[in-house]
Amino acid sequence: MPSLHLEGVSKHFGGLKAVDDITMVVPPGEITGLIGPNGAGKSTVVNMISGVLSLTHGDIRLDGTSIATDRSDIVARRGVSRTFQNIRLLPEATVLENVLIGFHRREHAGVVANLLGLPAALREDRAFRERAHSLLDRFGLDEYADTEAGNLAYGHQRRVEMARAIASEPDIVLLDEPVAGMNDVESDELATIFRELANSGMGLLLIEHNVGFVTRLCKQVYVLDSGRMIASGDPHEVTRDPKVVAAYIGTSKH
Ligand SMILES: Nc1ncnc2c1ncn2[C@@H]1O[C@H](COP(=O)(O)OP(=O)(O)O)[C@@H](O)[C@H]1O
Ligand SMILES: [Mg+2]
Repeated sequence: MPSLHLEGVSKHFGGLKAVDDITMVVPPGEITGLIGPNGAGKSTVVNMISGVLSLTHGDIRLDGTSIATDRSDIVARRGVSRTFQNIRLLPEATVLENVLIGFHRREHAGVVANLLGLPAALREDRAFRERAHSLLDRFGLDEYADTEAGNLAYGHQRRVEMARAIASEPDIVLLDEPVAGMNDVESDELATIFRELANSGMGLLLIEHNVGFVTRLCKQVYVLDSGRMIASGDPHEVTRDPKVVAAYIGTSKH
């Protein structure tokens, strides 16, 4: 299983250094955390890795091969999958169909990337349907298989997005605030799934606001503040680091 390396990565939007010269590793078989206050640059990191945004400087490598200039469909085909901070499902398609789309990286991902719809071949393929049902089962969603995704509660929609993201059996999965808006029971259920995925060899990058959640799950955590990496390492130590505490207190004031 490959690991993902970011080396000296920056993203500037005009004069704003949204991400400023960061270096980090997402190894296989582990959950790696990326935390930081709102506006720190976390989603921008995910957008650069997944090929949604170009890099201003630096390189991103998957087991030594640069993916820094690859389009998002190519990055997906290379085995890097993601969820979005703002859920992106096809609201009028069923839950099952939304997950079926996730198998598509093995076919021609560009078509689906444009959300033109689900190819008939996939829709009718029994093996894919069975796998989709077992994924839904794992996420406690199978009873909603035929429900329009847009009609599900928010927490359930997040889980559909995750089921879709791992359907292609990616090596690396980037989760942008996957438990935001969920209660403790729901987020604990997901924590169990995240651990299982890591144990199966997948490398997870978990972006999260809830420091306790990250501390419990992650082996290594990185802290971004105003685009800069202000700390990294063991989550228990990092979250006690005065720089990190100050970054969080600084933002809770407004
Ligand atoms: N497409 C964009 N164009 C201009 N500025 C952006 C864009 N995307 C993000 N930003 C800015 O970059 C900074 C980091 O944003 P973001 O990565 O979304 O932070 P986070 O996910 O940590 O809350 C913010 O100041 C945000 O306004
Ligand atoms: Mg964000």
